[in-house]
Amino acid sequence: MRARAAFLLACAAVLAATAAHAQGWPIARYSVEGRNSGYFYLGQQTRLLQDDDFQNPGMFAVDAGAAAWRRVDGTQGRSCASCHQNAAETMKGVATRYPAYDAKSGGILNLELVINRERVEKMGAAPLVYESPELLAMTSYISHQSRGLPKAVDITGPAAPFFEQGKDFWSTRRGQIDISCAMCHDDRPGMLLRGDTISQGQTNGHPMYRLIWHTISSTHRMFEWCNTSMRAEPYPLGSPVYLALELYVAWRGRGLPVETPSVRK
Ligand code: HEC
Ligand code: HEC
Repeated sequence: MRARAAFLLACAAVLAATAAHAQGWPIARYSVEGRNSGYFYLGQQTRLLQDDDFQNPGMFAVDAGAAAWRRVDGTQGRSCASCHQNAAETMKGVATRYPAYDAKSGGILNLELVINRERVEKMGAAPLVYESPELLAMTSYISHQSRGLPKAVDITGPAAPFFEQGKDFWSTRRGQIDISCAMCHDDRPGMLLRGDTISQGQTNGHPMYRLIWHTISSTHRMFEWCNTSMRAEPYPLGSPVYLALELYVAWRGRGLPVETPSVRK
């Protein structure tokens, strides 16, 4: 009997932890004034996978990021935690503001590039390769600290010309089939494309675990995939063109809650 009671208590503890650490939000939360998260267009199975932190395969990246946060690297003998301590406090809300204009470089930085700047300038460590598991893990971990908070990037002042550049990119037809991002993601959300339901192309869940790629994936990798499916030459991940585009797309999803790690088909 005692063993059984202990077992039930353990189950209750697991359930309580699940409730505290899962998304499982009401569907209305994934839609803000007609702006819909990709979650909105997922089938029930994929939604359940994202909802449960124990099943969500993107949580591996978050956990790996938590370990990397405390790992000393570089010539200064420091980790991220040496200066920023508890990420749950110091990184809360940070992902909602990125990408953002950076006065020092005179351009747009996203979270990936800020992480690398921090490694180089504050730790004397080598920058991480774009789309490497390490950079995806740190980006996921930092974004996860903002889960549930609304995206709110600044497109005013010096960010304005980059925003305009991204906006133009979005609506410009390109490639052999002569279509624009807008022609799928503004005009056709909800429609089927070779078995995929087209969403609005929002980024509030990124980095996302993409099931067809079996891995956690960045916004720029998604841009590259869409560019290629338009039979248009993609730009390098982390390039200024994609940073401007990322700023525009983040603004397009303003108010949507950060979901990282999201699960997408
Ligand atoms: C030597 C101390 C130090 C270390 C080590 C350090 N940081 Fe920072 N970080 C700072 C300071 C100070 C700022 C704010 C001022 C600035 O931008 O330099 C900052 C800013 C940031 C920001 C921007 C926050 C915002 O609100 O825009 C992020 C994100 C960040 N750090 C992440 C990291 C990560 C990830 C690591 C480890 C790879 C790291 N930092 C290592 C001191 C440090
Ligand atoms: C031919 C239609 C089509 C075009 C054109 C297109 N995409 Fe996509 N896009 C898709 C499909 C299909 C997916 C995967 C399902 C989904 O989330 O919409 C996708 C996914 C995305 C996502 C991820 C959404 C999420 O919830 O994680 C983003 C961001 C995105 N596209 C941006 C773009 C950008 C930027 C362009 C222009 C360079 C573009 N797309 C052009 C069809 C298209």
